[in-house]
Amino acid sequence: FATGPLSGKRIVVTSGPTHEPIDPVRYIANRSSGAQGTALAAALADLGAEVIFVTGPASVPPPDGVQVVAVETARQMQEAVTAALPADAAVFAAAVADWRVAGAGDRKLKKDGTGAPPPLDLVENPDILAGVSKGPDRPGLVVGFAAETHDVIAHATAKRLRKGCDWIVANDVSPGTGIMGGTENAVTLITEAGAEDWPRMGKAEVSARLARRMAEALT
Ligand code: C5P
Repeated sequence: FATGPLSGKRIVVTSGPTHEPIDPVRYIANRSSGAQGTALAAALADLGAEVIFVTGPASVPPPDGVQVVAVETARQMQEAVTAALPADAAVFAAAVADWRVAGAGDRKLKKDGTGAPPPLDLVENPDILAGVSKGPDRPGLVVGFAAETHDVIAHATAKRLRKGCDWIVANDVSPGTGIMGGTENAVTLITEAGAEDWPRMGKAEVSARLARRMAEALT
């Protein structure tokens, strides 16, 4: 590991989307690229942390210098995160699917000739962030993300309390901001002390600043 202010600290980072199978060849996914979680994992490793990078099927490669645990589904991600604990900190940047298909089997769904589509029953996935925040192995610092389109501070503040995490990194992803899928981000850091607006900057710079902030909190 690199030496730095996070040397000796073990940090779990989730990243990317999850894929939830419909049958052996089809799945439900989302458009997360994994860019934010990847940049953050790289920034934490640069400061010397031992990073366990639990990633869904992302479209960007994982960073160097981290321990990669590749998963597909939300339930696999939850298992991998649980197995990676205890840790000094955990950051949840993954875009976890809210639902999975109930009873997805090992046989491909077929058209039955009547024109009637197969019923897809959805069941809610576990909330990994909330589970870790309220669980027995809770790291000393737990950070979640929130992408909102309106009333960012109010929603993110409520989310912080609901999920039981220490910090929420909130951003406004409404159309017109150019943030979703763009190279820049403008975040508000929500802590127990309140809301801090950070200026608009590159996603790598947001990650470096957040990693430094985490280092201050952990030392
Ligand atoms: O509730 P919402 O999905 O907006 O919360 C976002 C935060 O919760 C992110 O940090 C995300 O990684 C985490 N999360 C999770 N497991 C879920 C849903 C969200 O860890 N099932």
